[in-house]
Amino acid sequence: MLFADRLNNVETSAIRELFKLLGKPGIISFAGGFPDSALFDVDGIRAASQQALQDEPGAALQYGATEGYQPLREQLAQFMASKGAQDVAPGNLIVTTGSQQALDLLGKTLINPGDKVIVEGPTFLATIQCFRLYGAELISAPIDGNGVKTDELEKLIAEHQPKFVYLIPTFGNPSGALLSLERRKKVLEMAVKYQTLIVEDDPYGDLYFGEAPPPSLLALSASVPGSRELLVHCGSLSKVLSPGLRVGWMIAPADLLANATMCKQFSDAHTSTFAQATAAQYLQAGRMPATLNKVRAVYAERAQAMGDALRKELGDAVEFVQPQGGLFFWVRLTGAGGKESDGKLLAQRAIDQGVAFVPGAPFYCAQADNATLRLSFATADVEKIREGVARLAKAL
Ligand SMILES: Cc1ncc(COP(=O)(O)O)c(C=O)c1O
Repeated sequence: MLFADRLNNVETSAIRELFKLLGKPGIISFAGGFPDSALFDVDGIRAASQQALQDEPGAALQYGATEGYQPLREQLAQFMASKGAQDVAPGNLIVTTGSQQALDLLGKTLINPGDKVIVEGPTFLATIQCFRLYGAELISAPIDGNGVKTDELEKLIAEHQPKFVYLIPTFGNPSGALLSLERRKKVLEMAVKYQTLIVEDDPYGDLYFGEAPPPSLLALSASVPGSRELLVHCGSLSKVLSPGLRVGWMIAPADLLANATMCKQFSDAHTSTFAQATAAQYLQAGRMPATLNKVRAVYAERAQAMGDALRKELGDAVEFVQPQGGLFFWVRLTGAGGKESDGKLLAQRAIDQGVAFVPGAPFYCAQADNATLRLSFATADVEKIREGVARLAKAL
């Protein structure tokens, strides 16, 4: 079979290989990037889907508009307003099949082979793969506990004049990092100064544990003149409600949104109308605030348990910033006391001890830090988290 040349730019994820080992009985997994299925609001989603079939069976089961089911676009605009982005009209967003599709549509509409795109180092693996499929040359901008280092980012933008910059400012995957308010403003100012498009991917922003995080770049763009026209925001119901619904959305300048809509026509015509009608009913029924409170409380407890266990069991062999939201710990092996400092080697030994996690190196598009690990606290309960970290300490 002669495959397209674009496939030469990508390979199947190194992480997938590890996932094959997760079937081993008794394994405690910190490896997934999933929300906990035990937290799904099954009753609420059942009621919403029944309501959708009752109120508008034709629309819920028929082909629909590529831009999205209008009642859902309206609900999503209101949802964004409740999160501080007051001026999003339903026509400023399209519904996508998960935010993953929004990333793919951005690749399709913006990336020519050889175009430069700046991403965080580390960043979401599927983004790396997706943008590379379109031939992007990815450039890695370093981060710390406060998100992307804006001084470094500015140098990279000035040097490379990228097609766009892709950021996960709020509880990033895999970093868990939270971009500070000061840096958020700087990013928007830089967008205007260099006329650079910024993509804000925000599937985790609602999953905060204590205080709400600083406003999204989208919400803040109202206070930085000229930045809104240079900003794309991707949202998703996956991490807060259900990834199986495959409901995400993209807010973007009108010309970009029109081209993305055109490309979506050739991809999947539209996101499942039944899923969209269900999501619209769910939001309209006002269930989201209670759902968010519930998942935040559970994940907060688990994140606390994981941080406590890591400090207790692994001590100075690791360093990390306690995440304030999201699903992940980003941990660095220090090698202190002669302990293992290679994430990949530790991942293999950890499986033998009955615990799985993902080594950090594949999340970098360049200059990988092999001493890093991503641990998800989302799907194991507190007891399992303690046991899993104890097993990790044995593997170390
Ligand atoms: C940063 C980031 N963006 C996008 C996605 C895609 O999510 P979905 O397509 O389910 O909305 C994920 C899922 O893991 C993610 O971590």
